[in-house]
Amino acid sequence: KMPAMDAIRARIRDVPDFPKKGIVFKDITPVLQDAATFKLTVDALADRWRGERIAKVVGIESRGFIFAAPLAYALGAGLTIVRKPGKLPWERISEAYALEYGQDALELHIDAIGPGDRVVVVDDLLATGGTAEAVGRLVARQGAQLCGYSFVVELAFLNGRRRLGSEQVSSLVTF
Ligand code: PRP
Ligand code: MG
Repeated sequence: KMPAMDAIRARIRDVPDFPKKGIVFKDITPVLQDAATFKLTVDALADRWRGERIAKVVGIESRGFIFAAPLAYALGAGLTIVRKPGKLPWERISEAYALEYGQDALELHIDAIGPGDRVVVVDDLLATGGTAEAVGRLVARQGAQLCGYSFVVELAFLNGRRRLGSEQVSSLVTF
């Protein structure tokens, strides 16, 4: 039987020149579409955090939501959503982060997580780490305890792990 991580890796599809020329996009939709592989992926994420008394799983819009929600369910934790600007209706805090050209921001409801909450931040993919780092700042501003970041895919050559603090990062599959 193929080890879980190899099964996941085998279903990550390279799409050359997407979203623009020279970029090789890591497409996770084959992972989602296959029942067994999707389950393996969520189970592997959950195995990392079981027994760590995680109160909230923080999912990053939009691809992070796909994994954060079933992970929260599997851990018996709450789900906290970090969203792009203008989407959250309640009182919120915001953190900007750099894109290749310009910048964007991510927002968090102020009642979503609180002081001392043990949280894990989840996204589909770690590239430069700019996105996850901004979410780490949101979590810190709320006084919550960041137990770590969990990713399905890590693009090691972009050094996001170094940016976030290597001991804080876990990923299932590295390229
Ligand atoms: C992608 C990916 C991560 C982020 C990683 O999201 O889903 O969230 O980029 O890049 P970084 O480590 O360099 O910050 P994207 O902004 O494309 O949005 P989406 O999830 O809504 O598709
Ligand atoms: Mg994303």
